Amino acid sequence: MGYSAEEAEGRPVIAILNSWSDLSQCHTHFPQRVQEVKRGVWQAGGFPLEIPVLAVSEMFMKPTAMLYRNLLAMETEEVLRSHPVDGVVLMGGCDKTVPGLLMGAISADLPAIFMPAGPMLAGRYRTERLGSGTDVWKYWAERQAGCLDTCVWRQLEEGIARSAGTCMTMGTASTLAAIAETLGMTLPGAATIPAVHSAHARMAAACGRRIVEMVWEDLKPSRILSAAAFDNAIVADMALAGSTNAIIHLLALAGRAGVSLALDRFDELSRTTPVIANLRPAGEYLMEDFHDAGGVPALLSRLRPLLALDCLTATGRTLGENIAGAEVIDERVILSPENPLARAGGTFVLRGSLAPDGCVIKPTAADPRLLKHVGRAIVFDSYPDMKARIDDPATGITADDILVLRNAGPLGAPGMPEWGMLPIPKPLLEQGVRDMVRISDARMSGTSYGTCVLHVAPEAAVGGPLAVVRTGDRIALDVEARRLDLLVDAAEIARRLATWKPPAERFSRGYGRLYVEQTTQADHGCDFRFLEGRGGVPEPDIF
Ligand code: FES
Repeated sequence: MGYSAEEAEGRPVIAILNSWSDLSQCHTHFPQRVQEVKRGVWQAGGFPLEIPVLAVSEMFMKPTAMLYRNLLAMETEEVLRSHPVDGVVLMGGCDKTVPGLLMGAISADLPAIFMPAGPMLAGRYRTERLGSGTDVWKYWAERQAGCLDTCVWRQLEEGIARSAGTCMTMGTASTLAAIAETLGMTLPGAATIPAVHSAHARMAAACGRRIVEMVWEDLKPSRILSAAAFDNAIVADMALAGSTNAIIHLLALAGRAGVSLALDRFDELSRTTPVIANLRPAGEYLMEDFHDAGGVPALLSRLRPLLALDCLTATGRTLGENIAGAEVIDERVILSPENPLARAGGTFVLRGSLAPDGCVIKPTAADPRLLKHVGRAIVFDSYPDMKARIDDPATGITADDILVLRNAGPLGAPGMPEWGMLPIPKPLLEQGVRDMVRISDARMSGTSYGTCVLHVAPEAAVGGPLAVVRTGDRIALDVEARRLDLLVDAAEIARRLATWKPPAERFSRGYGRLYVEQTTQADHGCDFRFLEGRGGVPEPDIF
């Protein structure tokens, strides 16, 4: 390979797992960043080796990048186990790359630090700032309602993604980066640095330097990821009104770390955590503003009474030490707990006859008047069915109806795509309707909004009650009471379920087969069953 013995001997070998490809639109700066990570590794006396791993691209993978999160996690674990490496820098950012890389690194349990891709620059259209996803959905609805012409739409499109980096609203990527930082798996302040900021390059080099020290300190994920660290991450998620996707990924990460974490813990912590990040889609500002306001350390400094500050982090110091001296620079972006965006309610967990194993809703992103609602179900059996019929005036959908999408869950879709923000029917858009109650076993983009009840478990494809809802049934949503109920007699639901038939199997071979055989339901994090629990599989020996 062209290295002399003097260059390599005695140096910790640092793998730099780079989730880059020509199709990973959020990681286009990684070819440069990897050089900066290497620079840091050399500076600290390490030996850096870049190893490409699956670039799980949110935009281009069908049916959904989520189908491949576990594949990235498996690849990460096996790459680290099978190669002669001592520590790892994880380069990711686009939604599923964060949990995928972290899940694999937790299972491999080598010293590991996460280098977040950072958000892209704020979008712009004329005098207006545009937020990833959130403003796409908003203006798409206007376009469907006939209020926007193609010319304006093109200008919006050209102005909304202006640089390398991840979606710059508090979507899944931003939420997961903040969670990685709160868990202690990044350098302090790393999660929010805009991708093209010079500070981002400095952070990359600092990751390279720090991982070499972590190897000498034997600072592994198993020493960082305690139950208290996961509680901290959930508190941060709630204070951010983070993406509902974070729940699934945190459940999976905890499963890998051997930490017992139940869906209801999210609801418990959401009840006591004020939403203090004024960021879209729940609030007003964008990630650049959040970074300039002090980022995650400043946010956490306002949540001190709710956090376990003695958790160890990648710096070798505690979370409390990391955020000592953190300052909120812009009070409009990071609010005080006394004057929050919402007193509680980052994400709530609901249960009831329609979701015996739970489902979630982000009330801050919903129309408050719909949080307690009874309506007639309009059922779509699949995503194609929904696409074919939703805009048809003949369906007679009214604003008070409840749109139900099924067979869009972990196994039904498969991969649980972000179909949960069902579009408002065009005839209603034209009447000015912009929100309705929507229920599904799908996920929703973290950049989305609306009264969307998501992750219904068990999903329809495994025979959850969602499978037997009929158009015309009445459904009651009561977010305050944390209930989602099908207002149909229990005996009738049981009768319908007794004659229900599972959908035909779609995969006879390959990764899809493995996925449908092994994936858990949403309330367990959708990991593969055989990958849950602590790693513990030793490095392969020479046979
Ligand atoms: Fe990559 Fe949104 S598409 S973070």
